[in-house]
Amino acid sequence: MQDLRNKWILITGAASGIGRALAIEFAAQGANIIMADIDEEGMKNTAAEVRAKGVKTISIKADVTRPGDLDKLAQTAVEETGGLDILVNNAGIGMVSEMKNTLWEEWEKILAVNLHAPIQLTLRLLPHMIKKGRGHIVNIASMAGLMGIPGMAQYSVTKFGLVGLSEALRTELHSYGIKVTAVCPGIVRTPILQTSRIKGFDEEMRTPPPGMSISPERAARAIVKGVKRNKAKVITSALPKLIYALKIIAPGLVGLAGRKAYSRWKRVPI
Ligand code: NAI
Repeated sequence: MQDLRNKWILITGAASGIGRALAIEFAAQGANIIMADIDEEGMKNTAAEVRAKGVKTISIKADVTRPGDLDKLAQTAVEETGGLDILVNNAGIGMVSEMKNTLWEEWEKILAVNLHAPIQLTLRLLPHMIKKGRGHIVNIASMAGLMGIPGMAQYSVTKFGLVGLSEALRTELHSYGIKVTAVCPGIVRTPILQTSRIKGFDEEMRTPPPGMSISPERAARAIVKGVKRNKAKVITSALPKLIYALKIIAPGLVGLAGRKAYSRWKRVPI
């Protein structure tokens, strides 16, 4: 979909970080934005920036883990737009904790937000896209969905799930005219780095090493470009692209480097 003017795009988690930057970047291309988030104040700020681009926007307070909220969100998206063009499953939470320290309740929470919610929202909107014979589903996964990250098994599981879902649906939905893209950013400097639950590791983990992260605006530009080109996978910057390529051609080397890097993570007693 090269021309985004007057298209309708639903973005979950648009109050902050990558979702917010994406809303503004899509709006700059002339697209109308429906945003959904639990953070009403953050959505107000995003909405003001989106509106300043001269497009329409609708904000819906929704917790993506609540089926009733998803029903309302999907209904609004269909009724107000006459058929949604792009769904961006972006809302997500992070967690750093070794499996031995992670409670099942913590697994359930991250699975609900990062994986079950995108599946549930897609289930609600897919029939409408199929009926229209068009649509694009964009799942914001992570590099942690392309390589298992030690200390972040719960997060990796949710993001591998999203990558698998995207790959399967891309082929399955091709004949219906529906496109699917998985987005796999490396580290992006957003509030998630501060809000993620960290158990058993030093708080210094919240600060990415120099040169290892990108801004949400840069991530958003890469994502919009990838969506317009209908890419199967968008890796948003050079370093994660290199690491992923190395994982494919030299998995043993990447495994060794990973063990060395992980041994330097500072653990704290819990
Ligand atoms: P963020 O914390 O800035 O934004 C996440 C947004 O999701 C927030 O506005 C939050 O209120 C919303 N949200 C959380 N739980 C929700 C719920 N139950 N219902 C509705 N909204 C909810 O984080 P960021 O970094 O912008 O994350 C966006 C996506 O990008 C997430 O899926 C994250 O896993 C992914 N990602 C982030 C990376 C990073 O380094 N920041 C790297 C790779 C992927």
